[in-house]
Amino acid sequence: MDGANHSVVSEFVFLGLSDSWDIQLLLFLFSSVFYMASLMGNLLIVFSVASDSNLHSPMYFLLANLSFLDLGICSIAAPKMIYDLFRKHKTISFGGCVVQIFFIHAVGGTEMVLLIAMAFDRYVAICKPLHYLTIMSPRRCVLFLVASWIIGLIHSVTQLAFVVDLPFCGPNELDSFFCDLPGFIKLACIEPYTLGLMVTANSGFISVASFLILIISYIFILVTVQKKSLGGISKALSTLSAHVTVVVLFFGPLIFFYMCPFPISHMDKFLAIFDAVITPFLNPVIYTFRNKEMKAAMRRLCTQFVSYSKIS
Ligand SMILES: *[C@@H]1O[C@H](CO)[C@@H](O)[C@H](O)[C@H]1NC(C)=O
Repeated sequence: MDGANHSVVSEFVFLGLSDSWDIQLLLFLFSSVFYMASLMGNLLIVFSVASDSNLHSPMYFLLANLSFLDLGICSIAAPKMIYDLFRKHKTISFGGCVVQIFFIHAVGGTEMVLLIAMAFDRYVAICKPLHYLTIMSPRRCVLFLVASWIIGLIHSVTQLAFVVDLPFCGPNELDSFFCDLPGFIKLACIEPYTLGLMVTANSGFISVASFLILIISYIFILVTVQKKSLGGISKALSTLSAHVTVVVLFFGPLIFFYMCPFPISHMDKFLAIFDAVITPFLNPVIYTFRNKEMKAAMRRLCTQFVSYSKIS
């Protein structure tokens, strides 16, 4: 039954990023370095939080879960892109393409909701510090996580439901380095405009809604802090600046990407690289940069690791 639908197109060909050998080499080095750095930075956070009892608090659990999602995000498209850079025929099977689309939307949607949970966590910590541990109980943390995953999965499944039965009769060239939904729809033998609008609206809805909720939460926190005392505002600002930076870095390229679903320039490809390898790399950097506890935990973990490897 699959064959009847997709008889002509069983695989897609990525056009990649550039034909120039120099640019490919540059992209290869750049993406490999940032991909490795994302993997190591996020793994370091996950292991530090898991192994260090000083970091067993809701904020760090959420942060570790964010890192876990970042590990997913940077591993969906980047390894294949790096592997493909010097291949003449950059192909992906039909199933592989659908899997990429599924995970991009599932993990991306989950991360958006998790960022909202993290904003709520900061709201409680800054505005209701005395009730922090009762409000952010372990049960509620798990509830937030489960809710994030469910919303991410629902978002992804609805996106796929729109496109999984599309007929493809060629051409099969995707002008990208991974399967993105707008490009995928453009290749189907249908009039792409309405469907393109529908999936863009779906992604746009979850992105814009999360983005607005986050911005409003941060403003709300600042206003609450300012009403209570003037001294607290600079501390709150410095705590929130890391979160706001992460949110802007995550949503900025995404909103641009979906605002122009059928763009002419190559800007979208480079923005996609940004979201694929740089944002997951920056999250650990931003969150740990000014966090003494996190840095101390990482140092302890590294010392442990070094002494283990000396023994064995
Ligand atoms: C995610 O959060 C839960 C509950 O807060 C925690 O038990 C779990 O270890 C975290 N996951 C990761 C990968 O750190």
